[in-house]
Amino acid sequence: RAPEPCALVLFGATGDLAHRKLVPALYNLYRGGNLPAECAVVCFGRRDWTDDDLRKEYEKSLAKDGGPDFAQVWPAFAERLVFASGTFDDPESFKNLKEKLEELDRTHGTKGNRIFYLAVSPEFFEQIIGQLGDADLVYDWQQDSPWSRVVIEKPFGHDLESARALSRSTSRVLDESQVYRIDHYLGKETVQNILAFRFGNSIFEPIWNRRHVASVQITVAEEVGMSGGRGAYYDTAGALRDMVQNHMMQLLSLVAMEPPVDLSADAVRSEKVKVLQALPHWKPEDVYRNVVRAQYAAGSIEGEEVPGYLQEKGVPPDSHTAPYVAMRLELNTWRWAGVPFFLRTGKRLPKRATEIAIQFRRPPTELFDIESEEDSAGNQLVLRIQPNEGASLTFAAKIPGSRRRLQEVRMDFRYGTAFAVPPPEAYERLLLDVMLGDPTLFTRTDEVENAWRFITSILDAWELPDAPPPDSYVAGSWGPEASDRLVKADGTKWRRL
Ligand code: BG6
Repeated sequence: RAPEPCALVLFGATGDLAHRKLVPALYNLYRGGNLPAECAVVCFGRRDWTDDDLRKEYEKSLAKDGGPDFAQVWPAFAERLVFASGTFDDPESFKNLKEKLEELDRTHGTKGNRIFYLAVSPEFFEQIIGQLGDADLVYDWQQDSPWSRVVIEKPFGHDLESARALSRSTSRVLDESQVYRIDHYLGKETVQNILAFRFGNSIFEPIWNRRHVASVQITVAEEVGMSGGRGAYYDTAGALRDMVQNHMMQLLSLVAMEPPVDLSADAVRSEKVKVLQALPHWKPEDVYRNVVRAQYAAGSIEGEEVPGYLQEKGVPPDSHTAPYVAMRLELNTWRWAGVPFFLRTGKRLPKRATEIAIQFRRPPTELFDIESEEDSAGNQLVLRIQPNEGASLTFAAKIPGSRRRLQEVRMDFRYGTAFAVPPPEAYERLLLDVMLGDPTLFTRTDEVENAWRFITSILDAWELPDAPPPDSYVAGSWGPEASDRLVKADGTKWRRL
């Protein structure tokens, strides 16, 4: 199915996300023949630019990775890039925008269909959505054609209360069906494959429960620190808001959800939200027992010296914000009661790796000796989200010879080798879905709020005067000792990545 003609208005068009991800994704979609010929990208910004200025700017940044046919594809794509000068607080700018969109309907055949992409700092969300409403830029949601959709980049609030306030003000102008909240993890091929793996096969689901699973580990490790002057913003978020509330809660809900009745957007999202509703209700002492937060101290990553978190530009030297979080939680559901889920994420860890490991229970009796008790993982299924996308299953096999000793071996599936095509960029898939009007891979407001309910209980506990201060770990190590103790209490350990 090809998307219908449409105009996409990009707020924040001169920002980092637009440059690094959004415009390149649109370019690649265009290059691959996935955009309708009747389309336009309207970049809205404060500068006093002409269309030509905008095109020159993007030509420079796209040419680098534009592929061998850049010289042929670029001119046609450039014709579809236009600039709209304006500011978010000025109603006149939005009137002009409306005129520009109507003009594009005539010149580019965009048929009145509109996507507004808010790649801006969250403090502008409400203002922009309000202006879209006042300038009559969004249509009644019940009409099929033309349509209008609004895409919002995270964060959707910074705690439960602000998330609710944002939902309220959004719903004054837009129906939920018109709002596409981006969590770029859902655009990753391997994240979508969690559902295929679980529900497209018959062998995993019967053992995907408390009777067979001993524990689950979800790791999102990153080598990066506070690059590109990000420290000041990041310090208002920390790992809990930046990674756990969105990406990790999404991974958790996909791993733990019940089978949906079908793959429609609401069937899938309704099952995911039930997992988030089953997250624990923690008191402060539960938070201190189950959650470890930490800051990196100066250290080295791949031989390069890096500063500690508190020395990063823009981070106050007395900050308590934690770029590392690990936690143990249980889900209050029939399927999972009593099974520990361990989550960890951090900056300045030894490598970039995202994976989900399902640890199965040991056999009821140990008939065999295992070759190396120390390294024994037991039966473990690992879904590698990135890099080396794939999955592997660890099981025991008899070492050839007369003794009855076992050694653990691995069955391994790799996307790269099995399919020999690189997975598409997350933003390409997500932008295409917005154009097609498929919200399956976008977060529904009740998912956001339920995740915030849980996360806010942790944030509130950390604000209390008797809250333990963040732990510390050396940059380039796998996190603080407290995090190892957290998993050890359940007789397990973090997977070595
Ligand atoms: C973003 C976070 O949402 O995800 C960043 O704000 C983080 O801090 C990034 O680095 C990680 O995304 P990916 O796709 O590189 O795993």
